[in-house]
Amino acid sequence: MKNRKLVMIPGPTPVVRSIQDQMGRETVAFGDPDFVKDFQEVVQDLKSIFKTEGEAFVVAGTGTLAMEMGIANITQEGDNVLIVSNGFFGDRYVELCERKGLNVDVISAEWGTIVPVEEIEKKLGEKDYKAVTVTHVDTSTGVCAPVAEIGKMIKEKFEDTLLLVDGVCATAAEPEYLDQMGIDVLITGSQKAFGVAPGLAIVLAGPKAIERRESIGNIRDYYLDFNKWLPIMNDPGKYFGTPPVNMIWAFQESLRIIKEEGVENRYERHIKVARAMQAALEELGFTILAEKEYRAVTLSNVIYMDGIEDAEFRKTLAEEGAVVAGGLGPYAGKMFRLGHMGNIDMHDLVSTMSAIERTLYRLGNKDVLGKGVAKLTEELLK
Ligand SMILES: Cc1ncc(COP(=O)(O)O)c(C=O)c1O
Repeated sequence: MKNRKLVMIPGPTPVVRSIQDQMGRETVAFGDPDFVKDFQEVVQDLKSIFKTEGEAFVVAGTGTLAMEMGIANITQEGDNVLIVSNGFFGDRYVELCERKGLNVDVISAEWGTIVPVEEIEKKLGEKDYKAVTVTHVDTSTGVCAPVAEIGKMIKEKFEDTLLLVDGVCATAAEPEYLDQMGIDVLITGSQKAFGVAPGLAIVLAGPKAIERRESIGNIRDYYLDFNKWLPIMNDPGKYFGTPPVNMIWAFQESLRIIKEEGVENRYERHIKVARAMQAALEELGFTILAEKEYRAVTLSNVIYMDGIEDAEFRKTLAEEGAVVAGGLGPYAGKMFRLGHMGNIDMHDLVSTMSAIERTLYRLGNKDVLGKGVAKLTEELLK
């Protein structure tokens, strides 16, 4: 009999039954009073969980659309923008911003580490930047940027520069409190730490970002314009583009789960799970790409030991019941990426670790059975 496949890639993540049930509901009219109430609750919950006096936008799309929506509403052609890149998705912002006619400067970290805050500060002192983009967790490297420190520095020293954070692989797992952390725009998606299927682009805009939107007048983008969506987010009974009714319900359920768990508890849980997984992977002989102090809690980017071939490892692991992603860029073929975020429990974690051990065993490492699971369990029970 074939093993069930646990989706342990860094997004989409496992979708729990109660969220799946919302996607399977009979679709109603978007003006249905009950749905309008549900959508209103989603918008309110986003603002209160991620703590902003600003606005929240939830539209059909992927994380990339949210990236585009975020920057399109706070900049104008010709503006200077600084991109802080910790990997593949930071680099994606370069092309995206260049296509919008922005003057782009980039500071990149070596894969596995961060761009130091002092370096960002020095660069910001060189010219008048309208915005800085930072990827909170870059999925290609598993590195977590020190967003709170960056936000504090910008707030204190560069009043006219807005901070845009890409939280696609961080939001709902790494702390992100907009107004107190100096995050002006947070962009994210539904399919990672929220544990919802792919399909929603989510953007939170703090008061300074909304002010900036007002001050720049018309923008070229239509679907992405905050001003087109704002009346709908304030009164979801109105129409601009048909809302993805079932996805909004699914998202509402994920927010309910977050509130029930408590967002602080959720952040703590992610730390515990990540450190346990990472310790167990190291116990088996793997190396984690990210330097210890900058390791993300949402995923691990795991470098193979000598003698393990990427395609064979991932194929065997899938047969054993866990699907992981391959490495990107310079790490393609040298590493796998393991997601451990969202609505996952002890069963998912232990099963995944055991599947990794069985895979190594089948590939010739005969002394691994039980070692990873023991370390993982020991850490999780601390
Ligand atoms: C950090 C980060 N930003 C942006 C994206 C793009 O999101 P999407 O694939 O949903 O367009 C991803 C996707 O994995 C990501 O990990």
